[in-house]
Amino acid sequence: MLIYGVTCKFNIMNSRINIIDPIRERKSIRAFADKPIEEKKIQQLFEAARWAASCFNEQPWRFIYATKENETAYSDIFSTINEFNQSWAKNASLLMIAIAKKSFSMNDKPNKHAWYDTGAAVANLSIQATNLGLYVHQMAGFFPDKAKEILNIPEGYEAIAAIAVGYQGDASILSENLQAKESATRSRKAISEIAFEGKWDA
Ligand SMILES: Cc1cc2nc3c(=O)[nH]c(=O)nc-3n(C[C@H](O)[C@H](O)[C@H](O)COP(=O)(O)O)c2cc1C
Repeated sequence: MLIYGVTCKFNIMNSRINIIDPIRERKSIRAFADKPIEEKKIQQLFEAARWAASCFNEQPWRFIYATKENETAYSDIFSTINEFNQSWAKNASLLMIAIAKKSFSMNDKPNKHAWYDTGAAVANLSIQATNLGLYVHQMAGFFPDKAKEILNIPEGYEAIAAIAVGYQGDASILSENLQAKESATRSRKAISEIAFEGKWDA
């Protein structure tokens, strides 16, 4: 592979390998602006999620969402998020819970790929969000059982992540500790650590 005139066998100059803008610019911010998200954009997020690939095209992902304008529904979702995440997610204009259907509809057998597929749908949603000038921050720090109960999630479905969405705000709204995290350099493993040609490379 030739990059900037240098022959590159993946592990050299990773950060300079060109990728599409919405992937490069996606970032889990915590400083959200007090600015509503246009309804059309919300629909575009779910449209992007809808087109993810899934095992047997089961499309096991479901989303429960609420904007700040819908105060009761927003505070229901907000109440399922843990204290640390609440401290910054309270500024996000849109909150969601990502849910996976645990069995295949065609035969009721367990679908062990449901979580993988739902993650792929959220990845699509996140990239689309970036393309719309929005930011997505996924959270494992929430209470799935509480979400199941208060959001009426039926048996056979599992709440797997909470998600905050919004426009970027000023980092000064965050605590000092979170401001430092917000401006920290993002890091990633090198391609040579995650992709092995031919066989596992210890
Ligand atoms: C499934 C999942 C769960 C996460 N849970 C939390 C969380 O509870 N709280 C939080 O602040 N960030 C959470 N994050 C955000 C990650 O910390 C973040 O994606 C990671 O540090 C990489 O940063 P980036 O998304 O800006 O590239 C989560 C991300 C994912 C994908």
